[in-house]
Amino acid sequence: MATSRWPGDRLLFGGDLNPEQWGPETLEQDIEAMQVAGFTFATVGVFGWALLEPRPGTYEFAWLDRVVDRLHAAGIVVDLATATASPPPWFGRLHPEAMPVDRQGLRLSHGSRQTWCPSSPDYRRRALQLVERLADRYGDHPGLALWHVGNEFGCHNLMCFCDRSAEHFRQWLRDRYVDLEGLNEAWGTTFWSQRYGEWVDVLPPRATTAIPNPSAELDWRRFCSDAHLEHYLAERDLLHRICPDTPVTTNFMVGFSFTGLDYHRWAPEQDIVSNDHYLGHHLPHAHTELAMSADITRGLAGGEPWILMEHSPSAVNWQPVNLAKEPGQMARDAMSHVARGADVVGYFQWRASTAGAEKYHSAMLGHAGTGSRVFAEATELGAVLRRCAPVAGSRTEAKAALVYDWPSLWSTDAEATPTQEHRYTDEVRAWYDALWRAGATCDGVGPEDDLSGYSLLVLPSLHVVSERTAAAVAAAAQAGAQVVITYFSGTVDERDHIRLGGYPGAFTDLLGVRMEEFAPLWVGQVATLGTGGSPRVPALHDETGRIWTERGHAETGTEVVASFADGPSTGSPAVTRRQTGSGAAWYVATRLSERGLDALVAHLVGEADLDTGWPERPVGVDVVRRRSGQQTWTFVIDHAGAGARVPLAGTDLVSERHCGPTEPLALAPGGVAVIHSVTGRNGE
Ligand code: GLA
Repeated sequence: MATSRWPGDRLLFGGDLNPEQWGPETLEQDIEAMQVAGFTFATVGVFGWALLEPRPGTYEFAWLDRVVDRLHAAGIVVDLATATASPPPWFGRLHPEAMPVDRQGLRLSHGSRQTWCPSSPDYRRRALQLVERLADRYGDHPGLALWHVGNEFGCHNLMCFCDRSAEHFRQWLRDRYVDLEGLNEAWGTTFWSQRYGEWVDVLPPRATTAIPNPSAELDWRRFCSDAHLEHYLAERDLLHRICPDTPVTTNFMVGFSFTGLDYHRWAPEQDIVSNDHYLGHHLPHAHTELAMSADITRGLAGGEPWILMEHSPSAVNWQPVNLAKEPGQMARDAMSHVARGADVVGYFQWRASTAGAEKYHSAMLGHAGTGSRVFAEATELGAVLRRCAPVAGSRTEAKAALVYDWPSLWSTDAEATPTQEHRYTDEVRAWYDALWRAGATCDGVGPEDDLSGYSLLVLPSLHVVSERTAAAVAAAAQAGAQVVITYFSGTVDERDHIRLGGYPGAFTDLLGVRMEEFAPLWVGQVATLGTGGSPRVPALHDETGRIWTERGHAETGTEVVASFADGPSTGSPAVTRRQTGSGAAWYVATRLSERGLDALVAHLVGEADLDTGWPERPVGVDVVRRRSGQQTWTFVIDHAGAGARVPLAGTDLVSERHCGPTEPLALAPGGVAVIHSVTGRNGE
């Protein structure tokens, strides 16, 4: 694998530059304005294929030479895209069979972007030819800092149902199951007369009459993720061969808007993990969704610093209503990512387009030019990031972890589940938000990651569970963690087959509960919680659950912390706790109300002895620490808009003021502070 840690001893600030949309004189103005704003990196060439190879096999690099040379001369490092995200129109004419086919069998045409089938050998060949040229030409350029493969893999062409994809899928299945007997068993094909006698009959899940085979769907989702990964690896390996010292990445999309790739399989293949994040204006508490995305990205990076490749300076253009950011929000959003491990703060895009599908997307340099609020805030942020340079390379501290899993998402959000009211991400976010409100920083980890060493481990609806994960979760509780498992977890194995003997399958013994029947609630219905006999969390009693209840019982030795007092599961346990080793395993059999979650999380944070900032921290004020050796940077970000008195000792790198318990920092409403302290000094 290429390279040491990147970007080194500073935080980088920059974003996508699309100079091909402008004339040469604009580049000079751009560079001048970038220097005012403090830009230190630029991503170039993402959508450059049509200009780099205007006709098949004819390459024109002069424009890109100039851009890379000029950026380098200005001290702005280059993240060079391989430009393979969007082939030019001639590609579809020469290779019509490489155009993706949708589930209904409709073959799509060029005219937007990312129009290619991930299993197409023609796309692979043409893309690698371009990458080889780029690597030969720019591999030794002193301005090149990073290779950026494709762009947001799977964003628009996640699935292709063409015949070539069908062949590729069959090969993937052969690798997984060896023969048809293995496949038939894994997919449970004796059901509904689906048994396969010939490989040629195995197809992608194209449009069909009724509910498709869920095991086949789950494998199809895995395959689609792997098919894109295979292409990424082909480009990456070529780049590694030609430029062994330059790191390679591709920008993930961890967040609400895309759930198509299993990034736990992608992350180990990145020299440095990078992510794009956009706020969802329709979401309650969009800023906590941002925080969750960042915490999951840090988990993907194994706790190491990562790149925020893109987020928006203000509004996007692809949601039904695109809200402009509030004054001060640019810094809050960016620093929420930095607090959670980003060492690079990138934006889409530098200069707003005047034509094309994104002409209403905000930019650092909007249509109004440098005299705008956004540009002024960008310039301020650039200065703050310069002062925060020593933060680079430090690690975010988290004693809690939340397990996030793409196969569980795909499987629970499928058709024909106990209730379509349950959406995986809603359950995960309900728990994440409660942890966020409590001030408990948590790592977003995968089920196969190292789960040891956490004081609190939360598994919201972790539906698809391997024996290995079940054992690791049990070991974590045994070793002292408070482990929380919520409804619909552990129910199926990796083939999406039910685990027999009661719910929640893989975790029944650990939890000491045995549920017999799911009894979901009608839309809008709630079930009241009553005392289950244990006085451990009295604040839960009279709280409510939504969406889900279950009928069953707790085994001897399991505390019933709350039970259902009404509704379809009256008398069954709703929240349980079982002591195991020096830790405990908790079960929550419903979607708790926000107040109920807050009560339970407050209790768990106490039992797990987690640091939550300071005792009187106002709710809505985010406190996250990054550490390196004896140095600590405490990020304090006011999302509630009421300001705060911060009693922490150190020097705030934003306001450049000293503070401490006797001279608390007055954080302005909506403000950000980064308090630097060194162990043994500043009263620590
Ligand atoms: C994605 C893409 C960019 C741009 C932005 C707009 O992140 O990578 O090219 O389309 O979305 O929000």
